[in-house]
Amino acid sequence: MDFQLTEEHLSVRQAARDFAQQELKPGVIERDEHQKFPPELIKRMGEMGFLGMMVNPKYNGGGMDTISYVLAMEEISKIDASASVIMSVNNSLVCWGLEKYGTEEQKQKYLTRLATGEIIGAFCLSEPEAGSDATSQKTTAEDKGDYYLVNGTKNWITNAKTASVFLIMAQTHREKGPHGINTLILEKGMPGFELGPKENKLGIRGSDTHSLLFTDVKVPKANRIGEDGFGFKFAMKTLAGGRIGIAAQALGIASGSLEFALQYSKERKAFGTEIINHQIIQFKLADMATEVEAARQLCLQAAWEKDMDMNYTKSSSMAKLFAAETAMRASVQAVQIHGGYGYVKEYHVERLMRDAKITEIYEGTSEIQKMVIGREILK
Ligand code: CAA
Repeated sequence: MDFQLTEEHLSVRQAARDFAQQELKPGVIERDEHQKFPPELIKRMGEMGFLGMMVNPKYNGGGMDTISYVLAMEEISKIDASASVIMSVNNSLVCWGLEKYGTEEQKQKYLTRLATGEIIGAFCLSEPEAGSDATSQKTTAEDKGDYYLVNGTKNWITNAKTASVFLIMAQTHREKGPHGINTLILEKGMPGFELGPKENKLGIRGSDTHSLLFTDVKVPKANRIGEDGFGFKFAMKTLAGGRIGIAAQALGIASGSLEFALQYSKERKAFGTEIINHQIIQFKLADMATEVEAARQLCLQAAWEKDMDMNYTKSSSMAKLFAAETAMRASVQAVQIHGGYGYVKEYHVERLMRDAKITEIYEGTSEIQKMVIGREILK
């Protein structure tokens, strides 16, 4: 078994680290405070190749493996989890799904621009009454011959305002349950497609989250992904990969918490010495470092299984479950080590603690991950 990263992996990780430290860190507190993410930064992420990392170069992507993606996600999430969720949704939920299941025409029209960050995508599954219970979709896509007529509401949509392309799951044949759902590509500006109110969130405040409202939106049949009724399977398969991205985001929040806590412990003096010399602090850091390493191995294993074309449903849910819990524990400990300084914004760790919580909720709550893992091990 080879645990060594390649030269290419190391250089991707270094590029992501430099970008996060030099270009994301300076404005991250302000972006969090004012709930904004400037388009120039998204453009920079595209130029750096972070928005279509795994897409085949023939569609303008980076042609990289999932391990590279995990390494970049970790570095960016150490500093700015809002940047990394924009990145994760575009890479894993939109580009991957389109490349794997889209038609050549859809790839030429959308993927070639999504992969460079010229445009951004959103993945629209959740509804006011269908979050964890994703088959209970109320949004409908009525088959009208050469187009679908879409009506309904989607909730908690990451990138909703920024995105130009939306992958939407909707019921076409309600009687068929999950087999009656279709995934359609909608474009911003289609008549009847409206942006709903913005959410004022606890964490990942830089990334925009809105509801979406559809009233008689006409979507051409050519915009359906896969066969009629493939929409729910599409969502589940895409989410299995998406969970690797969010696991890596949680890993980054955890390892970022560790790095901030370690640095602070070497500088802060109490009881006549730097606090790193107190065993109680060393024990906290040792626990954090051990859990971070375990989370990293789970993320890399899931990524490797995906790169090897193996079934990664179980490993991606395990990575997400454990990394999200690690992010919570590590960020809380980082605040504790910083004491009063940890409770104010300048020291970054209170933001990491707020950002950590979403990793236990989106792309399937921790309870959903346990359900998925349970089903896989019982098979
Ligand atoms: N791969 C392929 N097919 C799958 C699958 C997978 N991983 N999981 C389920 N399916 C298939 C099943 O095989 C079944 O098909 P068959 O009848 O042919 O066997 C069909 O889909 C229905 O599956 P289930 O009966 O298992 O469906 P369920 O209603 O019991 O739900 C669930 C399963 C795992 C709970 C699922 O609903 C789920 O994952 N829920 C969470 C949804 C979620 O993650 N939402 C996140 C929103 S996106 C987001 O957060 C993005 C963002 O902004 C960052």
